[in-house]
Amino acid sequence: MIYLDQAATSFPKPSVVREAVADSFQQYGANPGRGAYAMSLQSSALLWQTRNLLAAYFRAPDPQQIVFTNNTTQALNMILQGFLQPGDHVLYSSYEHNAVWRPLMAMTDKGVLAEPFFPQADGSIDWQDLEQKVKPQTKLLVCLQASNVSGAIFPIAELTAWAHAQGICILVDAAQSAGYLPFSLLDIPVDFFAFPGHKGLYGPMGTGGFYVNPAQPLQPLLYGGTGSFSMQAEQPAVMPDHLESGTFNVPGIAGLHAALQWRQGQEEAILSHVQQLTQQFLKGVSQIPGIHCFGPAIDIPRAPVVSIVLEKIAVAKAAMLLEEKYQIAVRAGLHCAPLAHRSLGTLQTGTLRFSFGFFNTAAEIDASLAALAHLAKGDA
Ligand code: ALA
Repeated sequence: MIYLDQAATSFPKPSVVREAVADSFQQYGANPGRGAYAMSLQSSALLWQTRNLLAAYFRAPDPQQIVFTNNTTQALNMILQGFLQPGDHVLYSSYEHNAVWRPLMAMTDKGVLAEPFFPQADGSIDWQDLEQKVKPQTKLLVCLQASNVSGAIFPIAELTAWAHAQGICILVDAAQSAGYLPFSLLDIPVDFFAFPGHKGLYGPMGTGGFYVNPAQPLQPLLYGGTGSFSMQAEQPAVMPDHLESGTFNVPGIAGLHAALQWRQGQEEAILSHVQQLTQQFLKGVSQIPGIHCFGPAIDIPRAPVVSIVLEKIAVAKAAMLLEEKYQIAVRAGLHCAPLAHRSLGTLQTGTLRFSFGFFNTAAEIDASLAALAHLAKGDA
């Protein structure tokens, strides 16, 4: 199989990640923070080592402000629901995933006012449009680092400077960019930064997290056991316990730990390989008659995600044929991001999405382009 659905989750995982998950049942079989015996302490140490690696990777000022979650959706929900109060106004980009849109729409029922702003397909911002939307009660701006549909990269440094100058906090959804586009919280001091462990970072599914600026504390979404301050009825104020109740996905975090170590020393190689594959695909696909490609122009950097439609075959059928005839796995449809499709004009058709990762090869891209050239002619 040629796996080109890396935007949904990366596959395969590095062998060290698979081994670390398997070994975790022996090495980290006890619950972290719940016992004073060696194996529980070992599990706690694993959590802190992984938190430290994540903080170093994203250059977060303080590892204590990194919170583990099971995925980016959980991270985004914890931030949005922990930060916004009835009466607050929030601006969100018209490319947001349902992981942002749905919680915001649910919160409008509770008195939060949510309003979209409209970046261009290449990711550029209409600053006048944004400026006009600011209200005295605007508290938060939400923007992806890169679209999971088109791969467009949004100017997070400029958005952060702009938001902070207005006294507005900023939340960045790095679901498609973490591990594929560099991000430094020291250089771009966003208030909230949500990331998956299982996509560009190459950890297992069921891992993710977020960074929260200590100056913008969140109300917990989950209350419960933390292994600390057990006598008190209130959730501990100390981070990360404040936002981490219940048992962790220790096998997943062991895998994420191995993944973060695995990429040390080959970071540049990972980033440039996926960029090369993306460029190779874009150049090839743009020369096939009967295919339309969305998002930024070919030479503009983007996340390793490309969405297309074919004039002669609907996207769901094209995905089915790609698998049946060519053993190529891609995702077709709306990619849980109807807002992005509305912005791109593909809400009715959906798109056929190709997304690339470190273990894909130039030969696989060539094979995909050859398959698409057949499909584009209507040759099923
Ligand atoms: N959000 C993931 C995707 O875009 C699952 O496929």
